[in-house]
This record gives sequence, C-alpha cells and structure tokens, in this order.
Amino acid sequence: MNDHQSLRDLVHGVAVFPDELPHFDPAAVPDSPVHLFHEWLAAAVDAAVMAPHSVTVATVDRDGLPDARVVILKDVTEQGFSFASSSDSPKGRQLQGSPAAALALFWPTMGRQIRIRGKVRPAGVEENDADFRRRHPVARALVLAGEQSSRLRDREELDAAVAAQLDRFDALDGEAAAPGSATWTVYTVVPDTVEFWQADPERRHLRLRYASDGDGWSRALLWP
Ligand SMILES: Cc1cc2nc3c(=O)[nH]c(=O)nc-3n(C[C@H](O)[C@H](O)[C@H](O)COP(=O)(O)O)c2cc1C
Repeated sequence: MNDHQSLRDLVHGVAVFPDELPHFDPAAVPDSPVHLFHEWLAAAVDAAVMAPHSVTVATVDRDGLPDARVVILKDVTEQGFSFASSSDSPKGRQLQGSPAAALALFWPTMGRQIRIRGKVRPAGVEENDADFRRRHPVARALVLAGEQSSRLRDREELDAAVAAQLDRFDALDGEAAAPGSATWTVYTVVPDTVEFWQADPERRHLRLRYASDGDGWSRALLWP
C-alpha cells in the first residue's frame, strides 16, 4: 500500500519562481561567458541566493553511466570553472577515466540556470596543496582520515578518525608543518559551451548559449 501523497498532489501550487524576475537582455551581454557568469553570480549574491556557488557536477563512469553530485565552485576564470575533491573518490576516478564534465547551477529565486560542458584538467601539485591548506582543519582531517565515499561503519568511526587527525595537527609545530594530501585535487572544467537560462513569467524562457571556437566565443539563442 502506498500511503504517500502523490507527487503531483504534494507540489500542486508550489511556486517554482517568484512573480518578480530579473531582466535579461541577451542582446546586451559581454563577449565572454565568464564575464556574464560573474555578472549573474554578483546579482545572485546581492539577492541573497543561498549557496550560489554550489554546482552540480556530472561525470561518467567506465561503463558510460552518468553520476552527479553537488560541489562548491572554487574559482571561475577565463581558464574555466574550478572545484576541488579527492582524486580517490568516485568522481575523481571517473574524471581520470573520462576527463570531461557537465555543470549545472540553479538559482530558483532568480529563475536562472547556468549549464557548462567541457574537458576537465586537474591542477598541479602546488595548486592542489595550496587549496588543501586553505581548508578548515576538520575538512582537512576528513580527507586525511578516510577515502571519500568508502563504506563507513557508524558515526563513532568518523568522529574517532577525525579526532585522531585533529590531535595530530595539534601536536605539530604550527600550520606550516600541517600534513598535505596526496589526493586533494582542484579540477577545472574548460568550457566548450556555457548556457544561460532565464525564466520568464509567461513561460517564454530565454536561453543564450555561448560556444567556444578556440580563440573566442559565438552566441546563439535556443528554443526554450
Ligand atoms: C552544498 C554541497 C557542497 C559540497 N561541496 C563539495 C566539494 O566542494 N567537494 C567535494 O568533494 N564534495 C562536496 N560535497 C559532497 C558531494 O556532493 C559528494 O557527496 C562527495 O563529493 C562524494 O561524491 P562522489 O562519491 O561522487 O565522488 C558537497 C555537497 C553539498 C551538498
């Protein structure tokens, strides 16, 4: 017996977007999607969007099956869209076998989605290490304590492993002596395409896609 309300009933009348949506004029955009990304991100921060820098990253495994999870964007430059994770996690192994990814951001209160596709480049040892050392001690302890996404027995196992790492940090002579990680990696998605989607109150949603032509970018509108 299914005693759950149907999804259709449960979400009936739930708003997807607010009535007031930001104006988007695809004819008045910068030449680079990276600039437009920064404009939209700044507007999202101004509008107090929660976690506007969280992004869904899709990768494929060795059987060609897709996988997706949310991570935090670390940087967005003309080089690409960067996030960081462990190379020995499922996503790290998937990126090693198939170094390409799709990213998606969704900011419901702005009615905006951004999609990015491209090849993925792992950073070098120095950049990975610098990023790792900027992390919160507990975040570092977690990376050093266990392999991401491997089976955890219970909460106590996690707490004990993190505590052991934090004790180890405390016993060290300052932050400079703190251990690094052999697996922490900054991955940069070098964009081939970047699409900006703006919801319209009358459902005439606007889509603008930038495509890389090697040196620069071309732009096209897409049917919603
Ligand atoms: C808001 C949010 C931010 C996250 N940020 C990161 C991150 O920056 N790096 C990371 O490795 N995992 C991050 N995670 C956890 C991932 O979603 C995921 O659970 C983990 O990386 C294991 O993924 P995998 O098994 O596909 O490798 C975040 C999760 C959430 C909900």
